[in-house]
Amino acid sequence: MEILTMTLIDLEQMKDILYSDFDNFWSYNVLKQELENPNTTYIIAKENNEVVGFAGISTCLDEATLNNIVVKKSCRGRGIGSELLESLIDLCVDLHMKSLTLEVDTENEPAINLYKKFGFKNLGTRKKYYNNTRDAFIMTKYDF
Ligand SMILES: CC(C)(COP(=O)(O)OP(=O)(O)OC[C@H]1O[C@@H](n2cnc3c(N)ncnc32)[C@H](O)[C@@H]1OP(=O)(O)O)[C@@H](O)C(=O)NCCC(=O)NCCS
Repeated sequence: MEILTMTLIDLEQMKDILYSDFDNFWSYNVLKQELENPNTTYIIAKENNEVVGFAGISTCLDEATLNNIVVKKSCRGRGIGSELLESLIDLCVDLHMKSLTLEVDTENEPAINLYKKFGFKNLGTRKKYYNNTRDAFIMTKYDF
């Protein structure tokens, strides 16, 4: 498996399977805007020339935010999410970030476990953060 910087060409290749094979919370148009944003970096995991996961951060001064991390449904539980997150943490080190912060649905156990595995600490809860119904944990990693 390779970890590469995501390009518009990669996004075009994923366009028709974004919702069905990954997840439905980031649309093609939003991801396209993300790729055009100079403060944002997206990476992909590629296996046999096929994108099996992607993730991105945005930065502001010395603070980074994890915008998204998603692995193709049929490829989960094989370490791809870990590789993506590890690469983004390495990128934060290279960019001299002092923290990496994210929000995660309080019921998203796989993602919460992934973040804990990489040393993210739960700093609190944003009530009704998703669709004005479900709560989110705010998790941050400081110790790069
Ligand atoms: C969260 C996600 C990216 C993890 O990717 P993955 O490739 O399956 O993760 P990995 O195989 O690298 O597993 C890493 C850790 O996550 C946790 N984890 C993964 N799948 C899990 C599951 N089904 N149940 C509980 N914990 C799980 C484990 O702690 C695991 O570490 P371990 O293998 O040492 O036990 C993936 O489940 C996904 O794409 N989910 C949908 C999108 C999403 O919710 N993204 C997060 C938005 S905040």
